[in-house]
Amino acid sequence: MTAASDWDPRALPSLAGRTVVVTGGNAGIGYFTSEQLAGAGARVVIAGRSAEKAELAMRAIRERVPEAQLAHVALDLTSLGSVRAAAEELAAFRPLHGLVNNAGRVVASRRRLETADGFELTVGGNFLGHFALTTLLFPALADGGRVVGLGSDSTRMVRLDPEDLWSERRYRPFRAYGFSKHAVQAFHLELARRLTAAGDSRMSLLAHPGWATNSYASKRPGITDRDPVGGRVFETLTGWIGQGKDQGAWPAVRAVADPDAVNGMYFGPRRQLSGVPVPTSPVASSADPAFGAALWADAEEKTGIRFPL
Ligand SMILES: NC(=O)c1ccc[n+]([C@@H]2O[C@H](COP(=O)([O-])OP(=O)(O)OC[C@H]3O[C@@H](n4cnc5c(N)ncnc54)[C@H](OP(=O)(O)O)[C@@H]3O)[C@@H](O)[C@H]2O)c1
Repeated sequence: MTAASDWDPRALPSLAGRTVVVTGGNAGIGYFTSEQLAGAGARVVIAGRSAEKAELAMRAIRERVPEAQLAHVALDLTSLGSVRAAAEELAAFRPLHGLVNNAGRVVASRRRLETADGFELTVGGNFLGHFALTTLLFPALADGGRVVGLGSDSTRMVRLDPEDLWSERRYRPFRAYGFSKHAVQAFHLELARRLTAAGDSRMSLLAHPGWATNSYASKRPGITDRDPVGGRVFETLTGWIGQGKDQGAWPAVRAVADPDAVNGMYFGPRRQLSGVPVPTSPVASSADPAFGAALWADAEEKTGIRFPL
């Protein structure tokens, strides 16, 4: 394992010749993840809902990295039909060296909504959509390739209720968001366990950004200034305890790029909410193998997609 102090997020190793898919690469942490990976020489495929926003993001990256190799593939994680179509298109970029499962509905709706396939929207998009995408894309992942999930410290604030993951008994927006991040963490850790058991060289890792806001990020016109006014005020008032989304991207970028990272590692900011990325640990409830196995079986049943492991 690399010593924590060895990693300089501003001096990445070359990623020339690698292809990385970043879900939600058009905005926020996903945008800066894409920009930093492209800056290190990776070909980056932005998987996102809006072609217009992806175009803007690709233009912003090219302003800083003129030789960047970039593409966009349409993806809406709240529709399994869209995930299937995206996975087919993304597979054409094989071999993939990284899949960053970054996209997320962070502010959940006030009332319980459902995906196109009838599952609670926040867990359905943030977790189930990524489960389906990862499963379908897994055969396109190169030897040694990495799947990186975006976890969250909200899992330390929201106690997991495995019996009500889909908020059928009770719905609260932040509870649903916390559940979705427990599920994302548990899924990537379960994948890591299965890869190790199978002797597979591919890896599953996690990253969390601390508290990362656009208000404290380097400005990218049309990208970092899109939050609604209420969100911007909240971020300005609270964001000083955290960092910008450019720095919030560092843990995910390290998970993709650190040559010494190993299967199952979790990176987060050194001071929990901010700082350079260092190895960290998930909350115990997300890491419980019994929860991971049950979640996996539930996801296979809900998606009708079997993982090829
Ligand atoms: N910011 C933080 O402090 C923080 C803390 C802990 C964890 N995280 C995690 O970090 C990740 C990125 O967060 P962020 O702060 O960068 O959020 P953000 O600025 O709101 O960006 C979210 C991204 O996800 C995309 N997205 C949302 N729903 C989608 C869907 N159904 N299908 C496809 N793409 C979708 C958005 O696309 P559109 O532009 O089309 O909406 C956008 O590109 C999330 O997984 C979040 O849970 C963030």
